[in-house]
Amino acid sequence: MSGLKLVSTGAAIPAEVVTNEDLTRRVDTSDEWIVSRTGIRSRRWCGEGESHTSLCLAAARQAMEQAGIGPEEIGVCLVATFTGDRMTPGAATILQGKLGLREDTVCFDLNAACAGFIYAVHTASRLLPVNGRRYGLVLGAEVLTRVTDFDDRSTCVLFGDGAGAAVVEWGEDYPDPCTVMGCQARDEVLCVPGIHTGEENVIRMDGQAVFRFAVEALPRCVEEVLAKAGVGPEAVDRFVFHQANQRIIDLAVRKLKLPVEKCAGNIDHTGNTSAASIPLLLDELVSAGQLKQGQRALCVGFGAGLTWAGALLELR
Ligand code: ACO
Repeated sequence: MSGLKLVSTGAAIPAEVVTNEDLTRRVDTSDEWIVSRTGIRSRRWCGEGESHTSLCLAAARQAMEQAGIGPEEIGVCLVATFTGDRMTPGAATILQGKLGLREDTVCFDLNAACAGFIYAVHTASRLLPVNGRRYGLVLGAEVLTRVTDFDDRSTCVLFGDGAGAAVVEWGEDYPDPCTVMGCQARDEVLCVPGIHTGEENVIRMDGQAVFRFAVEALPRCVEEVLAKAGVGPEAVDRFVFHQANQRIIDLAVRKLKLPVEKCAGNIDHTGNTSAASIPLLLDELVSAGQLKQGQRALCVGFGAGLTWAGALLELR
């Protein structure tokens, strides 16, 4: 059976830390409300000289350096995002030029919102055997402050900017990531309208509807990935969940009776970074030695669409 392993990770976050206290000077909110309802204490927002491209480039370079591979070895470069610097060309093609990837490298962006990184890893696992080179560069990157309504207290406190990257390797004897994916067409629940609609191009969200969807989709995805892999939760070393709201994660962990210490996240200092959320957390875990060679992470993302995706990734 052929499949994929995670080789290395990289991350880039903006320099500016925005605390809950900072937000109380913009909208009618409080540190107590934000922490108790979401688990978020601070997030990073892009400032001058920072961009989607600069974050992607820094995260990608770090992951490639950690993997010890050169640009000529990459066969596929995918960026999961909906907030790139340009509408077209995509962030992946910009990376191709800046990183010096070969011209026959398959480079494109993919929009599956907060589930996008897993969609991209799965897509890489299917494209690499066709391309013929073993390594793929997969990113989740967002500058959500571009589509944030800073007057809407129910959304502006939630989001942060950042980019996470991973080098993945396809191998004939590597494990299948056991990906599960799906979506429900429900743009009335969560939507960024786009520039040609006449509407303001900012995130509009029915938070409670997303919450209800997430507390059902997250545990279901975990169970489906485990069933596909034919293993129980004890075979998983880390559960890496999209960092949207600590209460969503706590409810899922309780429902599945997972060991809390295997489900630690980083939402307190990142906020919700959409497609960047899972690779940023993977990078934190790898950097801290909490996800080691040979260990397995069960990742689940969910977001606008409404989309969801889960996969079991082994660190080479
Ligand atoms: N500070 C203070 N009060 C607030 C704030 C705030 N920042 N935001 C909302 N409130 C108020 C509301 O106005 C409301 O007041 P009211 O009762 O007087 O009307 C009250 O708090 C309760 O509001 P709710 O919306 O019921 O708050 P809830 O507990 O549901 O929390 C939240 C809102 C955090 C948005 C939650 O619903 C959530 O996390 N939903 C999931 C969001 C998500 O996961 N999105 C992921 C996808 S994002 C993407 O794909 C880009």
